[in-house]
Amino acid sequence: MSQRNLFVTTALPYANGAFHIGHIMEYIQADIWVRHERMSGNRVHFVGADDVHGAPIMIAAQKRGITPQAFVAEIAAGRKQYLDGFHISFDHWHSTDAPENHELSQEVYRRLKAAGLIYTKEIEQFYDTSKNMFLADRFIKGTCPRCGAPDQYGDNCEKCSAVYSPTEVVNPYSTLSGTTPVLKKSTHYFFRLSDPKCVEFLRAWTQGNGRDGQPRVQAEVLAKDSEWLGPDGNLADWDISRDEPYFGIAIPDAPGKYFYVWLDAPVGYYASFKAYCEKNGLNFEEELQKENTEQIHFIGKDIIYFHTLFWPAMLHFSGKPFRVPDHVNVHGFMTVNGQKMSKSRGTGISPLQYLELGMNAEWLRYYLAAKMNSRVEDVDFTKSDFAQRVNSDLIGKYVNIASRSAGFIVKKFGGKIADDAMNDPILTAIRARAAEVRECYELREYARAMRIVMELADTINEFVDREKPWELSKDPARAADLQRVSSIALEGFRMLTLMLKPVLPATAERVEAFLSIAPMNWDDMDKPLSSANLVQPFKHLMQRVDMEKQLDVLVPEKAPEPEPVLPGGEAIAPECTIDDFTKCDLRVAKIVRCQAVEGSTKLLQLTLDVGEGRERNVFSGIQSAYKPEDIEGRLVIMIANLAPRKMRFGVSEGMVLCASDAKDKGLGLFLLSPDCGAVPGMRIR
Ligand code: 2FM
Ligand code: ZN
Repeated sequence: MSQRNLFVTTALPYANGAFHIGHIMEYIQADIWVRHERMSGNRVHFVGADDVHGAPIMIAAQKRGITPQAFVAEIAAGRKQYLDGFHISFDHWHSTDAPENHELSQEVYRRLKAAGLIYTKEIEQFYDTSKNMFLADRFIKGTCPRCGAPDQYGDNCEKCSAVYSPTEVVNPYSTLSGTTPVLKKSTHYFFRLSDPKCVEFLRAWTQGNGRDGQPRVQAEVLAKDSEWLGPDGNLADWDISRDEPYFGIAIPDAPGKYFYVWLDAPVGYYASFKAYCEKNGLNFEEELQKENTEQIHFIGKDIIYFHTLFWPAMLHFSGKPFRVPDHVNVHGFMTVNGQKMSKSRGTGISPLQYLELGMNAEWLRYYLAAKMNSRVEDVDFTKSDFAQRVNSDLIGKYVNIASRSAGFIVKKFGGKIADDAMNDPILTAIRARAAEVRECYELREYARAMRIVMELADTINEFVDREKPWELSKDPARAADLQRVSSIALEGFRMLTLMLKPVLPATAERVEAFLSIAPMNWDDMDKPLSSANLVQPFKHLMQRVDMEKQLDVLVPEKAPEPEPVLPGGEAIAPECTIDDFTKCDLRVAKIVRCQAVEGSTKLLQLTLDVGEGRERNVFSGIQSAYKPEDIEGRLVIMIANLAPRKMRFGVSEGMVLCASDAKDKGLGLFLLSPDCGAVPGMRIR
C-alpha cells in the first residue's frame, strides 16, 4: 500500500480527575499501533484532548469554589507526567473547550439542521428549585419503584437492577441540595437518529470496510450495532441540548441552550486535529480530504453507541470536510484478579503510583501487549502473571540474549561484528517471521506478536546454549567461532528489538545507541549489523527485579470489603427476631401539649394522645433540637408499653422515637413521624 495518512485518536477523558489505569491501557494499545505505523513509513497524526464539558465538572468546580475553566486547567496540567511516563506519543493534546471546538461543534449543528435532522420538543424534567437547574438523572435519588430499596439513582436500581425513568422514583430528591425536585417543562433540541436516511446510512456504515479493506468495526461490535439498527432496535432520537446553567458550548440562535457534552466531545477529535494542523503548518481541511487519509478511533466498550451510531451519523450528514471514521477499534476493560476495578473497594491500580514506585513503564506496556488482541475482551491483571511475564519473558528471554553476547564482541573483538555471520540460517529464519509480526501489529493482535517474538528468543537462546560461547572464549584458537556465535546472537537480538520496538520504545532507543545504529524502522529488518558500527559497552537494559514488594503496594492482596457507611460509624446491633421486635408496642401518638421542664436543660415534657381516651405524660430529651411550640400538634411514634419510669420531674409513661447520630457527632436529633393520614393509636408493625 502507498503511504497512509492516519488521523488517530483515543477517547477523550473527562477532565474531572486524574487518569486511571483504564485510560493508560487504551493509550498504550493505540500508541503501540501508532508507533508500528510510523515504523512502516506512514504519516500519523495522533491526537487527544480533555473532555471538559457537562454538569458533573461544573458542579465539581462549584464545590471547589473555582470556575470550570480553572478546574479543567488544573486537570490538564497533570496529564503530561502520565503520558511521558508511559511513553505515549501523542502529537497533540487539546481541550473540548478550545475555540476550535466551539466553532466546529456549531458548524456540525448548523449542517445537521440544514439537513433537516434537528427538531425541538418540549419535555418535562426534574428541576431543583434551590439550585435553579434541571437535574440529570444522576443527580436524582430516591426509593426504587420496583423493590423499594432507598437511595437509588434516578434511572436504575443497584439492588434489583431495575431500569426506570426518574419520574417513577418514589420520594425523589436532588443529590445536589437534598430538596424534592419539581417537574418543569423545557424545550429541547433533538437529533433525528430515527430518520430512515440515518438508519439506512448507519446500516451501510457499520457493515462496511475502512480504506484499508478491513471491516470498520469488530464482529462483536457489529453484532451490537445490528441489534440497535434492526427491526426491534428502536433507535431513539437523541436529546442534544441542555439548559443553562451548563458548562458547554452554546447552541446557535437558542439563548440559554447548550450542546449536551456528548455532542461536542467527539467533535473534539477534529478540534484537536485542527489545532495540531495549525501548529504544524498543515491545512486541516486538505489533510482530511486527502485520498490516502484514514480516520481511526480507539475506544472502550462502554461508549460503542456514541461512536458507532451518533458519531458517524453526525459526520456523514455534516458533509465535507467532515468524514466518517474508517475504524472504531473497541477494547474491553482492565480487571484485577478477575474483578472489575472499583475505587471505593480500593481494587484499582493507580498509574501514578506505578510510576512513583519506580516500576518500569515498559513492563506494563509489555504485559498489556502480551495480553491484548483485536477482540472486545477484558484484560486481567494479576501480580504473579505480571512478575512472571516480565521476569521470565522480557528479561529472562529477550534481554538475556544481549547479556550473553554483547560483552564478548566488545571485550574480545573491539566491538566488531563478524560480517560473514550475518547470513546464518538462524538469522534468515528469524527475519522470515518479521512480516508475520508486523501483520499482527497491524491487526492489533499484539499477544500473538509477543508470542512469536518470545518463540524466536527461545530459538536464539537455544542456539547460544548449544554453541556455549563462554567455553569458546577460553580457547584462543576458537576466537573466530566466538565472534560468529556472539555476532549471530546480537543480530538476532537487534531483530527482536525491532520487532518489540512499538511496545518498548525506550529500550529500543538504548539498544540502538549501544549497537551504534540509526533509529530502526520496519525496513531495517534486512539491514543486519555490520563491522562498520562498533558495538558499545553493554549496560543493563532491564534487570530482573524482585518486584513483589512493589506489586503488593500497587495491588493490595484482598480488596477490603466496603465498610457500611453509618453516620458516626455506629455499628448495627446484634441480630434479633421478629418476636423481639413485636414485644415493643409502637404507636402513633399526637403531641397535644409540650412545655419546657424547669430545672432541666435536656428534657421537654410532652402530653400525648395515643388514642386510648386518656392522655399520657412523657419526658423526652429533645430540648436541644425542638422548641415546644413548634411541635405541638405533631404526630410522632412512641413505645406505648415501656414500663413507666419515675423521674425527678414526674413519671414518664413511654418514650418517643428519634433518629440520632452516635453520641457527640453533633448531627442532631430527628423526631420520627408517620406519613399524613395516620391517626393516634395506630400500631407500627
Ligand atoms: O466516556 C468518556 O470518558 C468520555 N469522556 C469519552 C468521550 S470520547 C469522545 F467522544 F470525546
Ligand atoms: Zn430496586
